[in-house]
Amino acid sequence: MDIPVLRIGQHRPRLPLIQGGMGVLVSGPKLAGAVAQTGAVGTIASVGLAAAHPSFSGRNYFDINEKAIQEYLAEARDLAGPNGVLAVNCMVALTDYERQVKASCRGGAQVIISGAGLPLKLPEYTKDYPDVALVPIVSSTKAAQLILRRWVKTYGRKPDGFVVETPRDAGGHLGARDEAMITDPSLSLETVIPELSSYLQNEGLDIPVIAAGGIWDREDMLRAFEMGASAVQMGSRFVPTVESDADMRFKKAYLDATEDDIVLIHSPAGLPGRALRSPMVERYLQGEVESKPCIANCLTHCRYKKDRETFCIAQALVDAYQGNWEHGLFFCGTNAVKATKIETVAEVVRSLFPEKP
Ligand SMILES: Cc1cc2nc3c(=O)[nH]c(=O)nc-3n(C[C@H](O)[C@H](O)[C@H](O)COP(=O)(O)O)c2cc1C
Repeated sequence: MDIPVLRIGQHRPRLPLIQGGMGVLVSGPKLAGAVAQTGAVGTIASVGLAAAHPSFSGRNYFDINEKAIQEYLAEARDLAGPNGVLAVNCMVALTDYERQVKASCRGGAQVIISGAGLPLKLPEYTKDYPDVALVPIVSSTKAAQLILRRWVKTYGRKPDGFVVETPRDAGGHLGARDEAMITDPSLSLETVIPELSSYLQNEGLDIPVIAAGGIWDREDMLRAFEMGASAVQMGSRFVPTVESDADMRFKKAYLDATEDDIVLIHSPAGLPGRALRSPMVERYLQGEVESKPCIANCLTHCRYKKDRETFCIAQALVDAYQGNWEHGLFFCGTNAVKATKIETVAEVVRSLFPEKP
């Protein structure tokens, strides 16, 4: 089959592939820059950057987040070259979401990809940067329709793409209210990709639909294109790469993972998440609650800060980034079990697109 051409707003990456934003600092400047250099879209995850930044003093979290976003975009741009397409993934659930989006625009992001909530106000935050493409992440056609209608009515603007991320297989926070929804076939890519594509087509809207969750190799990718996707977004496959910004221990944890090691947890953000069964996760699943202080007030709604339930997610994700297996929260998709070696980004991309060296 023909490989689709991806157009996101004004940007035309050479390849219809987006590397999904992965926080904290799993997809930092090195991974995003290397991916963008190959012709795919490289994405920096904006979540929690300050918590791992050398200038963070314990008080200036939100200022340092802005500084880090701009600093890392500049670093990624150097690696990507002038033609690389760079995105920032900003999560709606974050307290400083608006500031992070604006800092991303100032720092030269060409695309903002935004989920973990409905990004209903995103066009307002980016109004001074009309060339920045805006891509919501949704798990259902209904959510996509709601965003589309609201943006058109309020801002006269349409999304430049939709990432459809299925909770069945994706890593990190999942777009599902509870565990039953995670395996609901009505939220599978097989259902939502054709459903949303035909809805957009019937409305006469040329908006790319991007499939995410459970895509590991070329066969998975071609299947998503056959369903009607114009591109794929992949997360887990890029974790065990040489260029991923996380510690080698994080990457090795993927190589060792078996199906029994992948679990669902209730995140302090109020969403289910998929992660490796690290000692911290095991303790949490046994009902243990941490006694560490909240480091940053990073989430608008946090069950740890508010009710002293769960754990401090900013701390746990930074621990994972630093390779602390005992205390870290290592997000992963169901496909983490398929990781058998550490590859370079160029090797991953070549295996997906052998016809486009
Ligand atoms: C380690 C890890 C961290 C992630 N962090 C984020 C994040 O910060 N924001 C977000 O929107 N999605 C996040 N995701 C989801 C990915 O961007 C991507 O959409 C998803 O992993 C796709 O599924 P796959 O892993 O099966 O390819 C994360 C996924 C992983 C594996």
